[in-house]
Amino acid sequence: MWDFTSPRKVIFGEDALEYLSEKQFKHVFIVTDPVMRKLHLHLLEEQLKATNAEITIFDEIPGEPTLQIVQKGAKLLAETKPDAIIAFGGGSVMDSAKGMWPMWASPEDGIDAIEGLNPFEDLKLREKTGCILINIPTTSGTGSDVTWATVLTDNSSETERKASFGNRELVADITILDPILTKTLPRSLIAGAGLDALSHAVGGYLSTWANDFSDALLLHAFKLLWINIPIAYHQAETGEVNFEIREKLHNAATMSGWGFSNSQIILGHAIGHTIGGAFKIPHSRCIGAACWYSLMYNKTSVSDRIADLARTIGIEGKSKEELSVNLIKEFKRLLIELNLPVSLQEMGVTKEKYDAEIESVIDYTLNDSGTLSNPRPVDYEDYVKIYEYFFEGRELDF
Ligand SMILES: NC(=O)c1ccc[n+]([C@@H]2O[C@H](COP(=O)([O-])OP(=O)(O)OC[C@H]3O[C@@H](n4cnc5c(N)ncnc54)[C@H](O)[C@@H]3O)[C@@H](O)[C@H]2O)c1
Ligand SMILES: [Fe+2]
Repeated sequence: MWDFTSPRKVIFGEDALEYLSEKQFKHVFIVTDPVMRKLHLHLLEEQLKATNAEITIFDEIPGEPTLQIVQKGAKLLAETKPDAIIAFGGGSVMDSAKGMWPMWASPEDGIDAIEGLNPFEDLKLREKTGCILINIPTTSGTGSDVTWATVLTDNSSETERKASFGNRELVADITILDPILTKTLPRSLIAGAGLDALSHAVGGYLSTWANDFSDALLLHAFKLLWINIPIAYHQAETGEVNFEIREKLHNAATMSGWGFSNSQIILGHAIGHTIGGAFKIPHSRCIGAACWYSLMYNKTSVSDRIADLARTIGIEGKSKEELSVNLIKEFKRLLIELNLPVSLQEMGVTKEKYDAEIESVIDYTLNDSGTLSNPRPVDYEDYVKIYEYFFEGRELDF
C-alpha cells in the first residue's frame, strides 16, 4: 500500500499573495530571514493588514539552519501561540518553521521532537497547537513548501551533520507561489536553487520508490526547469526579469518537491546533504554536481528511466544507453554554463580538509535516507571511489 501526501491548497500565479487578505487569523507568526525582511516583507504585511491579525516576526534564520535556531523559534511560538505560522523565504526559512512546529507541540521531547521524528507517527500537530502552516517560497528551488522533510544541521559534534527529518504532518496546509518574490534573486541563486529543483526531479524519478503520481509531476517539472533555468539565468545577467519564465520556474520547483517528497531522493542528495554539513557548502552550490554524479553512478541500473528524462527535453539517441550518456554530457555542460562547480575542489574543499573528514563523510552519506532509495546498490567502498572521483571532478567509469 502506498499513499501520496499533498498540501491542502496551492495558490499560484501573479498576485497570489492577495489570498492572505481573505483569511481570518488572530495571530500570525512570520518566520523569515533578514534579507527577506528587508526586500519583501512589506508585501506580506500589506496583505495581512486587511485581516487585523496580530503579527509576530521571527527574522533570525541563517542559511542552512541549525537545530539551535529552531529551538529558539519554538520557544517563541510557545509564548505567542499563533493560529498560523507563515514561513516566508527560501528552504532555510521553511525548514526552520517546519522544525519549530513539532518542538512547540511536544516541548517535553526537546531536540528529540526533531531528531526522533518518525515519518509515519501521528504527531497531532494541528490538534495540539491549534495552528496551521502556510509556506511562501522565494527561491524557486527546494520545494520545501510542499515536502514533509526538514533539513537541519546539528553542529554539536566535530563533523557537522546535516540531516533530513520528516513527518507527513509537516506538509503545509497552504503554499503560496507568487513569482513577484523571485524578481530579486541573484543569478547565482537562480542557477543553484534551480539545480536543486532539477536534482529533486531527477532523484525522485530515478528513486526505487517512484510511482505513477510522482512520475507525472517530476517529468514535467524536469522539462520546465531544464528549459527555463538557463533563460532566467542569462536574462538576469542584464537585469531582465520575465515573469512568465519566473512563474514556470517557481511552479516547477514546487512540483519537483511535491513529487520527490512522495518518492524519495537518491544518492545525489545523500552526498549533497553530507558535504553541505561537513564542508559548509550551501545546498544550492553543491547539489547540481552531486546530481551529475548520481546520474553517472546509476546509469547502468536505470538507463531506461534516465532515457525518459533525456527524451522529455528533446535529447536524441539510438538506444537508452546512448540517451543516458548524452543526458549526462548535457548535464555537465549545463553546470558549466551556469557557473556551478563540478568538483569538491572547485567548491573550496582542500585536500587536508577532505582527508580529515572523508571517513565520517562516507558514514553519514551511507546513513542518509537518499542512499536507501538509490536504484543501484551502494556500499562503503563504492562511496570511497565516488568521493575520490568527485574530489577532482572526474567522470565515473565504474
Ligand atoms: N525540506 C526540503 O525538502 C528541502 C529540499 C531541498 C533543500 N532543502 C534545504 O533548504 C536550504 C536551502 O534553501 P534555499 O536554497 O532556498 O536557500 P536559502 O533559504 O538558504 O536562501 C539563500 C539566500 O537567498 C536569500 N533569498 C531568498 N529568497 C530571495 C529572493 N527572492 N531574492 C533575493 N534573495 C533571496 C536568502 O535570504 C538567503 O540569504 C538548505 O538547508 C537545504 O538543505 C530542504
Ligand atoms: Fe535539495
